Amino acid sequence: MSKVQVMDHPLIQHKIALIRDKDTGSKDFRELVEEIAMLMGYEVTRDLPLKEVEIETPIATAKAKMVAGKDVAIVPILRAGLGMVNGMLNLMPTAKVGHIGLYRDPETLLPVEYYCKLPVDIEHREVILVDPMLATGGSAIDAINSLKEKNAKHIKFVCLIAAPEGVKAVTEAHPDVDVYIAALDEKLNDHCYIVPGLGDAGDRLFGTK
Ligand code: PRP
Ligand code: URA
Repeated sequence: MSKVQVMDHPLIQHKIALIRDKDTGSKDFRELVEEIAMLMGYEVTRDLPLKEVEIETPIATAKAKMVAGKDVAIVPILRAGLGMVNGMLNLMPTAKVGHIGLYRDPETLLPVEYYCKLPVDIEHREVILVDPMLATGGSAIDAINSLKEKNAKHIKFVCLIAAPEGVKAVTEAHPDVDVYIAALDEKLNDHCYIVPGLGDAGDRLFGTK
């Protein structure tokens, strides 16, 4: 059964309010998406295993803990997921980055995959799949299918804004995948856009509309 966590930290809520605003331009939007991803990454990595180490301080030997080298792969769903990569990399600079290219066909609203390039050792990595929007769930489900086809085993999905329909679809299709959300919205509209949402995340990040 998937764990679904809505991360309602005040700083995250504040920044989500700013990216929802239609008057927030691409530069600010990009910076905010990166900052929210970093704040979320803090919680998403909470269960990384630790190992005990001994450190010489200027005063004495200290028993301390360091991350036990469980390797991470950050995988954005193109395009909009790219906006979350640097925020995650700020926390985990040695993580590898894979890419899955998907777009929603405007007629069928079904995801069409056009690219998939993952770290060769993806099966040994903790995979953090990122995409700002979880609407119908089609794109996330398809991306997780692609990851599993390449033998990825430990997958977490991190998104900024989700519709209840998408959360249900992803957790039913992939009950082994935990889902982290910054804001859970009300519903989808007739065009399967999230209401109130923030519009088209890719266009807002890259200024394409
Ligand atoms: C957006 C978004 C997700 C997808 C969510 O991408 O970034 O990938 O829609 O919708 P779903 O849950 O109904 O699948 P889009 O298809 O607009 O592609 P883009 O990032 O290339 O603009
Ligand atoms: N994709 C987006 O970018 N926004 C939505 O609201 C739904 C899908």
